[in-house]
Amino acid sequence: MHKIAVIGGDGTGPEVIAEGIKVLSAMNTVGDIACTFIPMPINGERYLKTGELLTDADVAAINGCDAIYLGAIGHPDVTPGILEREILLRLRFQWDQYINYRPVRLYPNVVSPIRGVTPDDIDYVVIRENTGGLYTGVGSIENKGTAVEVATQSMIYTHDQVARCVRFAFETAQKRHVDSPWRGLSDADRAAGYRGCVTLCGKTNVLTYVFDLWERLFYAIAAEYPTIKTGYTHVDAVCVHMIERPQVFDVIVTSNMFGDIITDLAAVTQGGMGVAAGANINPQGVSMFEPIGGTAPNFTGQNCINPMAAIGAAHLMLDHLGYHDAARRLEAAKVQVIQQMTSMIAGKMGYSTTAIGDRVRDAYLAMR
Ligand code: IPM
Ligand code: MG
Repeated sequence: MHKIAVIGGDGTGPEVIAEGIKVLSAMNTVGDIACTFIPMPINGERYLKTGELLTDADVAAINGCDAIYLGAIGHPDVTPGILEREILLRLRFQWDQYINYRPVRLYPNVVSPIRGVTPDDIDYVVIRENTGGLYTGVGSIENKGTAVEVATQSMIYTHDQVARCVRFAFETAQKRHVDSPWRGLSDADRAAGYRGCVTLCGKTNVLTYVFDLWERLFYAIAAEYPTIKTGYTHVDAVCVHMIERPQVFDVIVTSNMFGDIITDLAAVTQGGMGVAAGANINPQGVSMFEPIGGTAPNFTGQNCINPMAAIGAAHLMLDHLGYHDAARRLEAAKVQVIQQMTSMIAGKMGYSTTAIGDRVRDAYLAMR
């Protein structure tokens, strides 16, 4: 039996997570998975009432769980930065979830804003380093409010932080190519026996210390994976390729801040935040699975947000917990329902949040 800590969070987070739980509960009932769900009231709402962010009791409860299923954290009445740093980032850091795994896939029938692309063109994964870099909160403001004010925010990376992230990217590339089509490779590459491709996304021409470290470790670790092709691309050029030739990508590995930025762009190319999911992974510890779309506070309670991203996060969670068959079937059910939908954009979907959850559940059950 797996114990899942469920943090619906704020805004539309609880609504989309409820649809994920609906599908997971049906999977429980038919015996495909064995999970119990432990609701946890960690959110901006509670903070406004009690001043509590992530309490010792929360940490203890989550320590007893196998995974966290998270909606979204954020509240319009709370100063920006508090909930992000003290809840979302704290969750990631507390359990050393050092990989942020964000698959980017254009599903059949989903309209991408990029003209002419097909599902064959967009199918890659971004491995975002998730515990270091600009996110460590190291920095200061000197002489605040004066004409000689100086603000700093440090991008800090250690050898081990980079190495474990880069290694995870190569492992991912290797796994992705066991029985799926080759990606990111030219015909000549394939003929040469390459199996997959990892692109390091950095900024070696300006951030000459941090990305020197990344680049050295990237090529050192690449030597352990002789069948995987490697490439280096500056982050700004990665943005161009994501629009003009997304088929060159297979696995992108990058720093925390760059990963944050490029995965929003990536989500848009795959049809929007309503479909994009991510996993915050500690391969040896408690991992956390979330739709990456945020709280969408203006749409709260309207039953109009696409829960596909939350259902996608459930798929990543099941796969992580070892329910590979159930995860595969859930993904297939999701794709089937997406194909029936007319749009992935909130308000234009023609389907309610709850109706989409029902459809995915029914499609899953029909597939068994
Ligand atoms: C994300 C979000 C967070 C981040 C914010 C809310 C702190 O943008 O998960 O991508 O920057 O990591
Ligand atoms: Mg982001």
